[in-house]
Amino acid sequence: MIEIQDLSFTYQDEKKPALEGISLSLREGDFLGIIGPAGAGKTTLGRAISGIVPHHYKGDFYGSVTVGGMDTVDSSLIDISRLVGMVFQDVDSQIICPTVEDELLYGLENFGIGRDEIPERIGFALGKVGIPELRERSIGSLSGGQRQKVAIASVIALKPRVLVLDEPTGELDPQSSRQVFTLLRELNEEFGITIVVIEQKIMLLCEFARRLLVLNEGKAVHEGETRQVLSHAEDLENIGVNIPRVATLSRALSRKTGKEIPVCINLDEAEKTARGLMA
Ligand SMILES: Nc1ncnc2c1ncn2[C@@H]1O[C@H](COP(=O)(O)OP(=O)(O)OP(=O)(O)O)[C@@H](O)[C@H]1O
Ligand SMILES: [Mg+2]
Repeated sequence: MIEIQDLSFTYQDEKKPALEGISLSLREGDFLGIIGPAGAGKTTLGRAISGIVPHHYKGDFYGSVTVGGMDTVDSSLIDISRLVGMVFQDVDSQIICPTVEDELLYGLENFGIGRDEIPERIGFALGKVGIPELRERSIGSLSGGQRQKVAIASVIALKPRVLVLDEPTGELDPQSSRQVFTLLRELNEEFGITIVVIEQKIMLLCEFARRLLVLNEGKAVHEGETRQVLSHAEDLENIGVNIPRVATLSRALSRKTGKEIPVCINLDEAEKTARGLMA
């Protein structure tokens, strides 16, 4: 679904590349988490997958990005956006209409969705995100977290095949953050939507993402199955990425006991491991 080959990108008037030699291959229905310290290039990679780099953000672009067989450089941003929806890190730069309903309507009308289908799409998206009661509200009256949910809903309403979300829980409390990830899992499992999510809440991310990509200074440090990437705990900590405590714990136990203990990625697994050791 997403093929990235040796992608390097330097923003116009910048000296240092934001991305360097990135290769990535995702199949339809994959669920990838992107992590890395500030300035690692996470947002830029999200922009490259959704074609905003290099269509909107100009610069030196080397290598190739294809999504659903479309080369993002050769395709128009409109064609790419029919396939890839992106929720921006800065939600307020994404929302342009005065009310929630208008915001969703705007995207649907731009996509030429038929009048008869629109109410159902709006209801579906607001319902999925858990904010049906905000439909008539003005954007200005919403909290940061509510605006974040509106931004997610407006992208979901367009039913993209690939969903790129840049720190979608940045403004959300733990409960709402979990709701968003549960929603992403649902979209992924029910509709086969390919998910790419940039996220700082590593514990939550590791519970939901099946693959992880770790970026540092524009380069891919590790990429692969979540558990396998977490097994490189020291590399991750060296670049300032905190791995879930349960993963650190299982590694420490492994060292201490001399037993092969698989990396735990959630509390349930850690509990099972601990019980196993005590038995
Ligand atoms: N619009 C832009 N113009 C010029 N340089 C940019 C632009 N956006 C990002 N950069 C630079 O590209 C590099 C990567 O930035 P990017 O925003 O992709 O990192 P990030 O991993 O998303 O960081 P954060 O965790 O802070 O969101 C940084 O050096 C940044 O300063
Ligand atoms: Mg970013």
